[in-house]
Amino acid sequence: MGIIEFDALASTNTYAKENIDKLGHFDIVLAAVQTAGRGRRGRTWLSREGGLYFSVVLKPHKAQPAFTHAMALSVCDTLKAYGAPVYIKWPNDVLARGKKLCGILSEAVFENNFLKGIIIGAGINVAQNEVKTDKPAVTLKKLGIAADGKKLLNDILLLFGQNYNRLSEGGFSAIKAAYKANFPYLGKEISIDTGRGLITGSALDLDGEGRILVKTAGGVEAVSLGDMGF
Ligand code: BTN
Repeated sequence: MGIIEFDALASTNTYAKENIDKLGHFDIVLAAVQTAGRGRRGRTWLSREGGLYFSVVLKPHKAQPAFTHAMALSVCDTLKAYGAPVYIKWPNDVLARGKKLCGILSEAVFENNFLKGIIIGAGINVAQNEVKTDKPAVTLKKLGIAADGKKLLNDILLLFGQNYNRLSEGGFSAIKAAYKANFPYLGKEISIDTGRGLITGSALDLDGEGRILVKTAGGVEAVSLGDMGF
């Protein structure tokens, strides 16, 4: 593992994608500032000084949708140890007091149907003066928590390494209990925008692949991706 560090980049995910051949498994791209930070669904991710912006390059034998769950879990458990009142909004947002503290963007890089790598990018609101995400946002600083970006990154990577190994060996089931311990929505009414429609119902459980099982009026649906309302 090596950390490649920049004062500024357009986007750590874009850099990792464009340089995927030169980067190895578990290499990290880190930038103090991003000028064109990207969020999910084509949204922008404002990335001013004071935040933590990084991408982890993975070159797994087998891709698993739950890599992003593993990152959300690692960020959440790390921030909890720092004293932040955090929890996960499925599949991979980390919130505190109803506001977004971390967003994760996973991207797969293919060439001729061959998977060259998976990039897991995370943006954490540490101490920026201005934050703006798709939803109301908060920083660790506003929560009264002082954190050093580099130490935070190392702490997250340590946990992510462990969760990644568990996941690779046992699938999402191997980290499910830890994930569920940070997921307060089970048994509650939720709605998920899948991009193809809204699924509304009671959150029953997560399955062995990290999909959320929602009891709707029409039966139980297993949803693999979407934006959960909050
Ligand atoms: C979201 O919640 O929409 C996902 C936000 C992901 C932001 C991070 S910051 C580091 C990495 N580089 C990017 O351009 N995006 C991700």
